[in-house]
Amino acid sequence: MKKEHIEPKAVIVIFGATGDLAKRKLYPSIHRLYENGQIGDEFAVVGVGRRPWTNEDFRSTVERSISKFPLNEKDVDEFTSHFYYHPFDVTNPDSYQELNGLLEQLENTYHIPNNRMFYLAMAPEFFGTIAKFLKSEGVTSTNGWSRLIIEKPFGHDLPSAKALNQEIREAFSEDQIYRIDHYLGKQMVQNIEVIRFANAIFEPLWTNRYISNIQITSSEELGVEDRARYYEKSGALRDMVQNHILQMVALLAMEPPIKLNTQEIRSEKVKVLRAMRPIKKDEVDQYFVRGQYDAGVVDDKQVPAYRDEQNVAEDSNTETFVAGKLLIDNFRWAGVPFYIRTGKRMKKKSTQIVVQFKDIPMNLYYGNGNTMHPNLLVIHIQPDEGITLHLNARKLGGGTFAQPIKLDYCHNCGDGINTPEAYEKLILDCLHGDATNFAHWDEVALSWSFVDAISQYWEENKTLAPNYEAGSMGPKAADDLLAKDGFHWWPI
Ligand code: BG6
Repeated sequence: MKKEHIEPKAVIVIFGATGDLAKRKLYPSIHRLYENGQIGDEFAVVGVGRRPWTNEDFRSTVERSISKFPLNEKDVDEFTSHFYYHPFDVTNPDSYQELNGLLEQLENTYHIPNNRMFYLAMAPEFFGTIAKFLKSEGVTSTNGWSRLIIEKPFGHDLPSAKALNQEIREAFSEDQIYRIDHYLGKQMVQNIEVIRFANAIFEPLWTNRYISNIQITSSEELGVEDRARYYEKSGALRDMVQNHILQMVALLAMEPPIKLNTQEIRSEKVKVLRAMRPIKKDEVDQYFVRGQYDAGVVDDKQVPAYRDEQNVAEDSNTETFVAGKLLIDNFRWAGVPFYIRTGKRMKKKSTQIVVQFKDIPMNLYYGNGNTMHPNLLVIHIQPDEGITLHLNARKLGGGTFAQPIKLDYCHNCGDGINTPEAYEKLILDCLHGDATNFAHWDEVALSWSFVDAISQYWEENKTLAPNYEAGSMGPKAADDLLAKDGFHWWPI
């Protein structure tokens, strides 16, 4: 969808303004949009939170959160002057009335045509309450637009996600709801479609005739940090697979949309999720592997086991690692496994997709040990952003020997190239009313119904114990999952 070349004019209301996400991601992203001239001067940000802060407290917090970027003092003062703090009780209707008054006042000051973006960056248990009061107290009844951005987790399983969705839908229609999946804002995740649909050399090969398997790895060095209260109940399957990983699967597997608009792209992604073969409880062990990190060494530092982290139960069964094999039952993908893996406290922070092509029918050249290296297309999502194509070429002076070579394109390796933070792109998309890179309810529901069977089985079988060393690539069973099919994980 082409962006309008006009600067959006809106008040951004952030619920959870004193929280970690707002400080780490939202303020720096809004600042960059401001610095790059993408949101002009006619905007205001209202921070809402329980703490009794003043505008000055809030502005200093915003200033600190953007201070790791080079700043010019005058610009900072100008920028933070757009920020206003409003102490708030989410359960009290009067708070919403007062908020409405403040928004009207700011809309006059900044000549904003009643456009309001409500960003819920806080504990999910209040999402429904906030949406309900925003509507009942008239905060969403304006002459401009009202949009709601919601952070994950969007529910804990399908029933809870449905209940949450119903509550929110009483106040906002589906096209006003922007469900964040920050992976969809990443430069190279957005590039998956372009690589596929703008290259005649890939799209015709993008089928089960030529692709043998696809591997998606999203590994982290970090452990659970201070999020155990949430993570203990979530685990890697709900935290990473239900959303980020399945979104990447959908983008890799979808049919070309007839147009690049929100509705067409989403409907193709939904078809993939519908075609994903459900895993029955008695098949989970055959298709999925779970892991939990033990003590080990990451980045030359000794780190504790998951069970020894703060707020984690001594006998916790929560998985910090998941590997799985997905099958998509449609004409294009029948028989092609999509292998996925994600985990905390692994060897390296990296998100990477490897598309492995089938072997050529006959090997005329000799590679190492008489086998030819398969062609691979590697999409580097992070920290490097780029693609690598693995081909075979004649070995110098090698007669009939071939050797693997790599063609590399690195999007963010050049000096000074600073790719936009996912949040920066997503906030701008929402301001422009472009929901393409947000999750539609149908996608969320289908993803939950896929992972629910797996998590239920794991909850009933509390047999997980630490089974991979921190700093490794996960449990051995994750390697066996591919070895059974004659494959192996490509290095990250
Ligand atoms: C979040 C998860 O959605 O994604 C975190 O809740 C995880 O547990 C994070 O660390 C990973 O995001 P990124 O962008 O660092 O790969």
